[in-house]
Amino acid sequence: MLRSPRDFFQPLAIGAPEPLREIPWTPSRMIHFLPVVTPKLAEKIPDMLKQVDVLLGNFEDAIPVDRKLEAREGFIQAVKDNDFGDVGCWVRVNALDSPWFLDDMLRLTEEVGNKIDVIMIPKVLGPQDIHYVDRLLAQLEARNKIEKPILVHAILETGGGVAQVEEIALASPRMQGMSFGPADLAASRRMKTTRVGGGHPSYLVRTDPDAEDPAKPRVTAQQDPWHYSIARMVDACVNAGIYPYYGPFGDIADTTGCEDQFRATFLLGCVGAWSLHPVQIEIARRVFSPAPQEVKTARAILDAMPDGSGVVMLDGKMQDDATWKQAKVMWDLAVNIAKMDPAMAAEYGIDPATV
Ligand code: GLV
Ligand code: MG
Repeated sequence: MLRSPRDFFQPLAIGAPEPLREIPWTPSRMIHFLPVVTPKLAEKIPDMLKQVDVLLGNFEDAIPVDRKLEAREGFIQAVKDNDFGDVGCWVRVNALDSPWFLDDMLRLTEEVGNKIDVIMIPKVLGPQDIHYVDRLLAQLEARNKIEKPILVHAILETGGGVAQVEEIALASPRMQGMSFGPADLAASRRMKTTRVGGGHPSYLVRTDPDAEDPAKPRVTAQQDPWHYSIARMVDACVNAGIYPYYGPFGDIADTTGCEDQFRATFLLGCVGAWSLHPVQIEIARRVFSPAPQEVKTARAILDAMPDGSGVVMLDGKMQDDATWKQAKVMWDLAVNIAKMDPAMAAEYGIDPATV
């Protein structure tokens, strides 16, 4: 059940900050995953903060059980030691049923609650998980005098989560977005793949047999096993006014496969993806920043229809109110990116000071 619309924006604990009415849009083309922050890694963080849109402390999967506390405390220290500026400060806590979740939440809010922007909740099964986190965060915000609400991001990686994706997206005003988690989702659904994202050679369609020559080889094409769920996630997020992301691509050496996977989700509406390795940072930057030529076309459409209505022809193509809106999406994204990324600003020919 959803909360009454009358109560939806009420704080869930006395002394907690008011929930936001709108989820702020800041570029988050790559959510860069930090492993355990050792002293050696800590030295690299100031440099990383110059390269990424979001830096995320990972406490969950991929962190060995005997290093869970080190991952948590190392990240907390890194948040204290660095000024994140415009870079998003995110964290992936352990799952709600794990022995670490509660202390993850207590320590984060106690030590760096005013610096954390978004907490990513893994293995969300339904809106009930978000309701629990929502109330808990309100209590912890009140206790620790946190001034701006900490937002929540769900990983879509269980069959239950996909079945209830619309309810999850609408479960709380804290919901910032969702990431698609193909590894846990495959396990949860008993899909027969051990890959993390991407296609699979066995998931294909084949042309009909040749009537004259049945032995003739038949052309096959791999299909996208994730299309349905990602498209549903995008719609659920759009409906709720929050942001969809693609998650991990596990084959680090396959940079082409990674770029294809990221790009397919960008085209469907995702705004970013996870980078698990420094090579994926650049891939995400390239894919989730609209191409300069597209931005130029978008600007031309906006200029040709200053009030956003009517119909004009540009280079033989019809433009109307709907294409104006498509162009606006593209242009606004480029402007936001230009404000954060001087190299892309130069490629777009956008001067961030004048837009
Ligand atoms: C991400 O967490 C995944 O399971 O794919
Ligand atoms: Mg997972």
